[in-house]
Amino acid sequence: MSAERIARIQDGLLTWFAVNARDLPWRRTRDPYAILVSEVMLQQTQVDRVLPYYSRFLELFPTVEALARSATAEVIRIWSGLGYNRRAVNLQRAARAVMDGYGGTFPTDPSELQRLPGIGAYTAGAVASFAYEQDVSFLDTNMRRVISRVVFGTGPATESAVLDTARELHPPGEGWAWNQALIEFGALQCTARNPACIVCPLSADCLAFPAIQSVLIANRNRKHATKAEPFETSSRYFRGRIVELLRVIPECDVNGVDLSQLGPQVREDFAAKDVPWLRNLVDGLQRDGLAVVSEESPPYDAGEHLKSTGTRVRLP
Ligand code: ADE
Repeated sequence: MSAERIARIQDGLLTWFAVNARDLPWRRTRDPYAILVSEVMLQQTQVDRVLPYYSRFLELFPTVEALARSATAEVIRIWSGLGYNRRAVNLQRAARAVMDGYGGTFPTDPSELQRLPGIGAYTAGAVASFAYEQDVSFLDTNMRRVISRVVFGTGPATESAVLDTARELHPPGEGWAWNQALIEFGALQCTARNPACIVCPLSADCLAFPAIQSVLIANRNRKHATKAEPFETSSRYFRGRIVELLRVIPECDVNGVDLSQLGPQVREDFAAKDVPWLRNLVDGLQRDGLAVVSEESPPYDAGEHLKSTGTRVRLP
């Protein structure tokens, strides 16, 4: 990536964060214990639901020592409405490991943090970044989606390629704000189902923008069209949409796009069961000379979260 592009993405995201960041309690502290509690709670739970549990948990167990010394049953009882109670047990095991192995002071190095029970690469990175303001890169679902879209478009990207890109984009000395900004941007702006591309500060640099925008516009038109029903459900509608997507998806003209990638852009509710339906449509387009369907597997590692169909389609 050019230095100019990197600087534009950094400035765009950090300025957006300065304006739009929510005032969340774990953003007001640098206590590694409180940050760890917040990150474990946020792993499978929305911010709004976490907020009351976070305050109450820290009232009852204000320090790593207090948590380590408490009865596990009591910790689980306080946690229980949040769900995934194993998180509470692991959190307490981590607190006990910090007491026993480190005299109650959290390690600062991400690889050492990762040796604590229940702490993976994401959580270790988050504690190093949000408590110690280190320049470390790590990925959760939101961060991965933001970076993938901006830099890799709607095509597949491996976890390691996205992580390398996260490191490349990371502005030195701004670890805390940058990582918080990526999380916040993914949660509020660049959401999975309804990204706000129209008011996005990164759209000029975002490889996914053209494809997503065309789908958003099609969706909006569908919502506003009063008598659109027959057209919407007809294959004519979806054929037109597929051709439009093949035109705008980055790199599609060269590599084509796998049906598993194309499907969710064709219709929001696309699921694995719809692959034959989509296959039928693209075969029809091929018969009419509007598309080329091929069976090669992708010439690159398709990445762990992509269930590739091995069928790719592109414009002729
Ligand atoms: N989800 C995970 N970490 C978060 C954070 N620091 N702020 C908001 N949401 C999050």
